[in-house]
Amino acid sequence: MSAVGRVKLQGIVKRHGNVTALHGVDLEIAPGEFFALLGPSGSGKTTTLRILAGLENANEGRVHVDGADVTDVEPGERDVAMVFQSYALYPHMTVYDNIAFPLRMVGTAKSAIDSAVREAAAKVRIDHLLARRPGQLSGGQQQRCALARAIVRKPRLFLLDEPLSNLDAKLRLETRVELRKLQRSLDVTTVYVTHDQEEAMTIADRMAIFMEGRIVQVGTPDEVYARPASVDVAGFIGNPPMNLLPGRIAADRLHIGDHMVALGRDLGAEREVTVGLRPAALRAGPTGLPAKIDLIEHLGDTKLVICRAGESMVKMRVDKAASFRDGDDIRIGFDPGEIHLFERQSGRRL
Ligand SMILES: Nc1ncnc2c1ncn2[C@@H]1O[C@H](COP(=O)(O)OP(=O)(O)OP(=O)(O)O)[C@@H](O)[C@H]1O
Ligand SMILES: [Mg+2]
Repeated sequence: MSAVGRVKLQGIVKRHGNVTALHGVDLEIAPGEFFALLGPSGSGKTTTLRILAGLENANEGRVHVDGADVTDVEPGERDVAMVFQSYALYPHMTVYDNIAFPLRMVGTAKSAIDSAVREAAAKVRIDHLLARRPGQLSGGQQQRCALARAIVRKPRLFLLDEPLSNLDAKLRLETRVELRKLQRSLDVTTVYVTHDQEEAMTIADRMAIFMEGRIVQVGTPDEVYARPASVDVAGFIGNPPMNLLPGRIAADRLHIGDHMVALGRDLGAEREVTVGLRPAALRAGPTGLPAKIDLIEHLGDTKLVICRAGESMVKMRVDKAASFRDGDDIRIGFDPGEIHLFERQSGRRL
């Protein structure tokens, strides 16, 4: 495991005029981690990354890298490499010169540049394209060129802002796997911004989930999936995300409309909750929540059965062989252990 590239953000506040982009972000990232910043558009991911890179100054808070306070250190002296959504390649330079650029900037010897450029290009498999210009490359090849330019210097931190979003779906999946392998082989702490929960879930060791300028949860993909910290996180993670229904608890009973479920544990005084149920945790059976099938979506190996249960829409993921028809009245069953409960008012997990 890498020994360098430990990141610590403390109380980062960022204001743009009267818009507060970050309301006090605290975050620690361990050396060598592949760490995702995940959240909806406008939640503050890019701002956080740019502050970490030194491209923007925070109004409050400190940035530490490997124990040193770098809050006031210039971007060029932070030893970070960044890849943006737009690859920002120099159009008039060849691929070779684009990759060599960061080394030339710091006055590296010519022979050392040559071997470093060839090695970086080979790692991302564009070593046969070194003589071309960016305009003569496909989107995926341009993206690799930007990656090669970022890794050529072996930075302390590798910062990526939605680097795959310009690629088509198939290439995005392939490149995601390669990026993960590349990061393992380089063993460089990587902070990866994405609004795509599936991308974050598959690529990251750990992730921070941003909502409206705040981090609302930090954890491994498994932790976040198994125990979303709030209704907002629950509604963001999973494809499709979990069903969220209004309910009421009293002692060890959960009521969803007229349907009652024994929870098997006493949750105290009666109150309003939001009930979370993953589509894959649901099944049709002789007992359960009464519902009527609205629509069936065929997804290949599975089907998504979309039902109405009272005022709520409920999605249930079932085997492709299951026979359901639009308009069927069914009962939706689930194990008490699969129920997620959130406080209605605050949205916090119970
Ligand atoms: N230069 C700016 N001036 C004013 N407001 C800004 C500026 N840059 C960002 N913001 C605001 O700060 C908030 C956070 O923006 P940020 O770019 O960090 O979001 P993001 O999570 O990266 O979103 P996206 O997924 O759309 O890229 C947004 O509300 C945005 O409108
Ligand atoms: Mg962004």
